[in-house]
Amino acid sequence: MDKNFLIQEITRLKQEKKAVILAHYYQDENIQEIADFIGDSLELAKKAQNTNADIIVFAGVHFMAETAKILNPNKKVLLPDWEAGCSLADGCDPKDFSEFKTQYPDHVVVTYINCSAEIKAMSDLVCTSANAKKIIESIPDEHKIIFAPDENLGNYLQKETKRELVLWKGSCVVHEAFSLDKLIELYNKNPTAKIAAHPESESHILKAAHFIGSTSGIINFIKTDPAAVYIVATEAGILHELSKAVPNKTLIPAPSTEDNSCACSECAFMKMNTLEKLYLCLKNESPEMLVTEELRIEALKPIEKMLQLS
Ligand code: 13P
Ligand code: SF4
Repeated sequence: MDKNFLIQEITRLKQEKKAVILAHYYQDENIQEIADFIGDSLELAKKAQNTNADIIVFAGVHFMAETAKILNPNKKVLLPDWEAGCSLADGCDPKDFSEFKTQYPDHVVVTYINCSAEIKAMSDLVCTSANAKKIIESIPDEHKIIFAPDENLGNYLQKETKRELVLWKGSCVVHEAFSLDKLIELYNKNPTAKIAAHPESESHILKAAHFIGSTSGIINFIKTDPAAVYIVATEAGILHELSKAVPNKTLIPAPSTEDNSCACSECAFMKMNTLEKLYLCLKNESPEMLVTEELRIEALKPIEKMLQLS
């Protein structure tokens, strides 16, 4: 379908249906351009909590739309592509996690927001990469902690907070794909560059980084830091907004081990959403995210605790 037609129709439908489009920074740039709000996981959860729209179109992945629905039981929440999953959420099966939990009965359970509603319902606290350190530090020292499902983020948090965490072995397929050899090669060609990395990356990448932070953390760092060149180790979609914010800085996506067309990391799940699918989901009001009330009430508790602490 023609791009101008899609933009026109999405704008019209959005007004007609009193809908809001929330998009993660990892979305296709056409979607970022038409979104009412672009943010990282924490910012989007807060936006979803406070919107007065009737319909939320969540241009992100499944767990994000699900979180928006948990926060807004009376609003219609739409996801442009129902198959837009996440390796972290998909790698933490509720039955397996329940068995895992029983091995550590006296532990506080902290889960990264990249997990299903069933896992959130089994958690004491939820966190995002932007507030994970603060959430762990809010738990009194005498408590033992399970952290799931991202092992890389968990390892990073152990170092940052000096707390011992029992870790679930999950990972993000995008952030674990950065190549240290290629990163060093790139850095040697750009020795004045600063490396900014997302904490979902493996520890050898984080060791090489000048700055470690969530998606919005990386954006704020690059906006305020005086360097001219940055190597950015997170999903490449972040470069769209960032290059508009810092037009005079050079932004280089960190190379992944896979030799793909852009030689950088893109999340295949995030990129399942397209402008056309966004238009169709707004027009047809489908696929719609639904969560049973029983599950929603349980999953809401740790999300609300996180939002109070953030
Ligand atoms: P943040 O939005 O918290 O930076 O997380 C990145 C991510 O991988 C989202 O799926
Ligand atoms: Fe999941 Fe990683 Fe994609 Fe984020 S970038 S949605 S963590 S697979």
